[in-house]
Amino acid sequence: MNEGEKMLKVSIIGASGYTGGELIRLLLTHNQVEIVDITSRQYDGEAVYKVHQNIRDSNLFFTGKTPSEIDADLVFTATPHGASMKIVPELIERGIKVIDLSGDYRFNDTSIYEKWYGMKNDSDLKATYGLPEIYRKEIKKSNLIANPGCFPTGAILSSYPLIKEELVDRIIIDAKTGVSGAGIKPSDSTHYPNIADNVNPYKISTHRHMAEIQQELNGFDDVKVSFTPHLVPVIRGIQTTSHSILKEENIDSSELKKIYEKTYENEPFVKLLNKDETPHLSSIRGSNYIHIGGYDIDETGRIIMLSAIDNLVKGASGQAIQNMNIINNFNEDDGLKAIGLNP
Ligand SMILES: NC(=O)c1ccc[n+]([C@@H]2O[C@H](COP(=O)([O-])OP(=O)(O)OC[C@H]3O[C@@H](n4cnc5c(N)ncnc54)[C@H](OP(=O)(O)O)[C@@H]3O)[C@@H](O)[C@H]2O)c1
Repeated sequence: MNEGEKMLKVSIIGASGYTGGELIRLLLTHNQVEIVDITSRQYDGEAVYKVHQNIRDSNLFFTGKTPSEIDADLVFTATPHGASMKIVPELIERGIKVIDLSGDYRFNDTSIYEKWYGMKNDSDLKATYGLPEIYRKEIKKSNLIANPGCFPTGAILSSYPLIKEELVDRIIIDAKTGVSGAGIKPSDSTHYPNIADNVNPYKISTHRHMAEIQQELNGFDDVKVSFTPHLVPVIRGIQTTSHSILKEENIDSSELKKIYEKTYENEPFVKLLNKDETPHLSSIRGSNYIHIGGYDIDETGRIIMLSAIDNLVKGASGQAIQNMNIINNFNEDDGLKAIGLNP
């Protein structure tokens, strides 16, 4: 940053949750932002390490400030769906840019939101879907970003070239997620004896993220998408396997790989693996990268694509910071340079 240049003032609403903690962890390494307020209703006045024990050497304290008391250039709303829609309009009205991590602003058609989320969002605010690999130009000009869901990020990025090139019109997505996807509050479905040494399919045809994946992949053609999630006993990460059937058998695996290379040639966070490798959760943990692999076409004409992301980084807070960087003309990888952990 040049001398005399102002730091971007950012605040996080819902900072005591998992995505809030990741925003703090990553933003503390960003040299062009200053974290102003981090809110929590439960931990007003407490030091940040009381909840996020990894963050020790910062002077950050949670505040119980309401959205109207927040002073910032940009706010991340790391709040549940339903809560975000009560917070965001006021911030936008006050001229503050917002990156919302919930599902409240992700849908072009509010009746789809109502059907899948079981509540109305009557706001007439127009948000940009914050998937930089597809909407970078629109994100640059936007004052409200609907940060994509975690499953949709892995599923859309690993399927998008197939749709763009009109190779398939039916995609079946099978995804496995770590338990941090459910947020910081414990529940029966995240209770250790229920998840450890186990694989739990859930909402097998009714998960909300199906509608979001369908919205984004259907933009090019009449594509049908099915999606089934599974909870697996890991803390972070989403592994996605997609199956789709070639419309015409006019392409081989090497050509398919070239299509992916062309689509993502300038993308800083998309890493295309070689054909003899498969993406692993253990390689992307803690990073904003998506690893994509597969490009396999079996004897029946089925294409198998694979991806791995960290649900809390590329699937949430890292992608939110990537969007902030784009809006503010920062380097897109500022605050996001960490490579995944190994092992
Ligand atoms: N976890 C993931 O992998 C992931 C990935 C992508 C997107 N998301 C989305 O990101 C959002 C946050 O997820 P998360 O996993 O961080 O959730 P979380 O761990 O449950 O944290 C959410 C935080 O929001 C605060 N909060 C709850 N209701 C609120 C309200 N009405 N007003 C203000 N603050 C409120 C709570 O803090 P206090 O009670 O202390 O105020 C809570 O700690 C959700 O919409 C989620 O769907 C999550």
